[in-house]
Amino acid sequence: MSSKVTLSVIKADVGGYVGHSAMHEDLLSEAETHLGSARDEGLLVDFHVTACGDDLELVMTHRNGIDHEGVHRTAWQVFEACTEVAKHLRLYGAGQDLLADAFSGNVRGMGPGIAEMEFEERESEPLIIFMADKTSAGAWNLPLYKMFADPFNTAGLVISPALHAGFRFEIHDVKARRRILFDTPEEIYDLLVFAGTTGQFVAKAVYSKKGTIAAVSSTERLALIAGKYVGKDDPVCAVRCQGDFPAVGDVLEPFTMPHIVAGWMRGSHYGPLMPVKLSEAHPSRFDGPPRVIALGFQLAEGHLVGPRDMFDDPAFDEARRLTNIIADHLRHHGPFEPHRLPMDEMEYTTMPEVMEKLKARWEGLPS
Ligand code: F6R
Ligand code: MG
Ligand code: MG
Repeated sequence: MSSKVTLSVIKADVGGYVGHSAMHEDLLSEAETHLGSARDEGLLVDFHVTACGDDLELVMTHRNGIDHEGVHRTAWQVFEACTEVAKHLRLYGAGQDLLADAFSGNVRGMGPGIAEMEFEERESEPLIIFMADKTSAGAWNLPLYKMFADPFNTAGLVISPALHAGFRFEIHDVKARRRILFDTPEEIYDLLVFAGTTGQFVAKAVYSKKGTIAAVSSTERLALIAGKYVGKDDPVCAVRCQGDFPAVGDVLEPFTMPHIVAGWMRGSHYGPLMPVKLSEAHPSRFDGPPRVIALGFQLAEGHLVGPRDMFDDPAFDEARRLTNIIADHLRHHGPFEPHRLPMDEMEYTTMPEVMEKLKARWEGLPS
């Protein structure tokens, strides 16, 4: 047992209602019952169950550190139990993200997305957990850059002595399975060479220069695990706020610009990421546009005080309106780039089959 607290956010799509648009409340109550038992047995300090679109989100606090077998097993069992409920209700895509047959020590590489961090809880510990639907890991690269490295977003980088030293980004190359650290502001140009390629280089974590964890995201790419398109990653990201970290307002500010992310219909289209309150996190139009919710918590000795629905604020109305304008414009492109993803990003869809089928019909051009 550690004096430190561990925040584990583990998520999976185990069945949609209706289609891929939302979550049936029976899955939420099933998950709550299981996590309630895990808390009563002492494995967890606290938990919160929610959904973003068709993704079941388990927010858990405990004293066991990251990658804890018992916590991961519990999450897996919740997803299995909820899959049974989804099958019973004939929900869509029941068990969709559970790519392994049986649990073997850790849910990493088994389909669910995982964002975990262990830290010494401060006197007051404000946290924001972002959860997205209809998009992929890599969607947090731009907002994390803005929060922790862009002085036009985060005033404290310039005027607060606590933030002035800058931060350290951990970038994962999810294709070559390797990682690299970049210090900002010194290395922002090097960082951006990679962070701008969101399909391959994904911001996994941000630390203070002293090594204190500030933010962590889920970097699992479902298509890379499954070897084919099975659904979107729909990633999560947890950010510590205030004091030595960006303020709550700095952490939310990047989402006033609905940046374009990969995902949307069949995971094969670019679309703007719409910041929404929980009751609007139900992608419908063309299975989108992609959504992000932000739940705020205060930690109290590991207990989750909250959540506050941070995008339930008219200050984000213009971002939502702009999302719809951009969505209209992109939709008018139909199957053309840059609405549809480029060919190399489509390698896990049916595109390779079409290419294979037509292979013999291509004729060489005279040189
Ligand atoms: C995107 C997503 C949906 C589905 C689409 C087709 O992440 O989940 O856009 O890809 O609704 O779904 P299937 O192939 O299951 O009919
Ligand atoms: Mg789904
Ligand atoms: Mg989803």
